[in-house]
Amino acid sequence: MQDELRKLQAEAEEALRAAQSEDELAQTRARYLGRKGRLRQIRQSISQLPEEDRPIVGQLCNKTQKALEAVVEQLEGGLGQQRDAKAVSQEVLDVTLPGRAPRIGRQHPLMRALEDTISIFLGLGFSVAEGPEVENYHYGFEALNYPADHPAMDEQMTFYISDDVMLRSQTSTVQIRTMEAQEPPVRVVVPGRCFRRDTVDATHCHTFYQIEGLLVDEGITMADLRGTLEAFAHGMYGEQTHVRFRPDFFPFTEPSAEFALSCTMCRGAGCRVCSGSGYLEIGGCGMVDPNVLRNVGYDAEKYTGLAFGFGIERITMLRHGIDDIRLLYSGDMRFLAQF
Ligand code: DAH
Repeated sequence: MQDELRKLQAEAEEALRAAQSEDELAQTRARYLGRKGRLRQIRQSISQLPEEDRPIVGQLCNKTQKALEAVVEQLEGGLGQQRDAKAVSQEVLDVTLPGRAPRIGRQHPLMRALEDTISIFLGLGFSVAEGPEVENYHYGFEALNYPADHPAMDEQMTFYISDDVMLRSQTSTVQIRTMEAQEPPVRVVVPGRCFRRDTVDATHCHTFYQIEGLLVDEGITMADLRGTLEAFAHGMYGEQTHVRFRPDFFPFTEPSAEFALSCTMCRGAGCRVCSGSGYLEIGGCGMVDPNVLRNVGYDAEKYTGLAFGFGIERITMLRHGIDDIRLLYSGDMRFLAQF
């Protein structure tokens, strides 16, 4: 019986060590150590042994069981590691692949055009002034020489918060605030958001950016106005760009003009963008009306001023050949990634 146990241990150990996988190991273990295993059969036959041999064989069975369980445990550890190593080698994650670059943000084309516009005027000696987007009647219309029944004040065109308070519809409001706060000479540009009750389409938005210019000093003339706008046009679109003035009307300038640039697409030959005219209307301008100078307490006999204002969306669209203003506010990455 003792010999048989020793043989069993040797055989079982060999069989256990030959197992290639954790499953195989479990099966082999069951064959020798399980409920119907060989060791169990030997234990069951102990009762047939002579009484004095029973404890010795019993102990030997226990020793054999223990020794074999230790082998199983050791082998399980090794096979587990092998399994893990195999899993790692079959991983779908390929750590040698190059990394995915993070998406780097860029400046929005509208903000870039605005900044470039500002920097051209800074180069001409202007400084930047700002004012509130929520404005009252005095700065919005009254001090800008609007007659009491001017259509721009109509609710159809301006967002009102109360009878006297509105969202500014133009940056011209900041002309008054700037002049009230200082004596001439004044030389500022005013970038900022404006709001109008426009229906949104390819060329209109209820919220848009304007930049305003104001220069007040002794001896300022229309030639300074023209020269200033020409310098802007050349800086933004190139030296070949012409500026065209046409008479217009604004309550706060006299004389007033609409200014246009030779088409940035066809260079004045006539194309779809300029509707064949060769020119693109950009904004309004003029000599500051003496009434406005008087409204802020300036000596209108001593000082004259020039003013201009235009939309930044249009500048951006012409710069990049964008034909729908809504794209600028879409947040669409397919559009934005192009800049
Ligand atoms: N504020 C005008 C507008 O929004 C543009 C404008 C015209 C501004 C003439 C000026 C100016 O400063 O002198 O249509």
